[in-house]
Amino acid sequence: MNSFAVALTFHVLAATIWTGGHIVLAVVILPRVLRDRASEDLLKFESGYERIGIPALLIQVISGIWLANHLVPGFANWFEMSNPAARLILIKLLLLMLTAGFAVDARLRVIPNLSEHNLVSLAWHIIPVTIISVLFVIVGVAFRTGWLY
Ligand code: HEM
Repeated sequence: MNSFAVALTFHVLAATIWTGGHIVLAVVILPRVLRDRASEDLLKFESGYERIGIPALLIQVISGIWLANHLVPGFANWFEMSNPAARLILIKLLLLMLTAGFAVDARLRVIPNLSEHNLVSLAWHIIPVTIISVLFVIVGVAFRTGWLY
């Protein structure tokens, strides 16, 4: 296995955890928690998922940066808008910043005061982060298929 295959394998494996976990959270756990107003069920899922979800996101970022540098060598060239691969890299970085913004706000502002009264505000974090996680996959697949070029 060469280093590209190793990086891509880690990247895709971590993507299954990050995106798959968020789809389970948004589609299965969240509707039940909102219906039963059971904030503790959400916290239970979050604390279990975090143990694997955060390392997965870290692997995603490290392997993603490696893959980006493999595809478009040199950080400065990632801003070369005439290069379609560089445009996709910038979209990935933008999605990463959006994810980080939602995560920091949820961790510092919403989760510490979570109760049945502000569950909807956490839903407004979980749903966009899930949509963004799917966009990460769509943009990722576009590198190889070229369908967003
Ligand atoms: C949660 C975050 C992310 C998810 C779910 C994700 C998902 C994916 C997926 C599914 C692919 C397609 C793999 C394939 O072609 O077989 C991919 C490719 C790629 N991703 Fe990500 N990604 C994420 C974050 C990032 C980040 C932060 C970067 C860094 C800029 C990045 C850069 C890339 C690159 C360069 C490729 C193309 C690899 C290649 O085929 O040469 N990704 N990603």
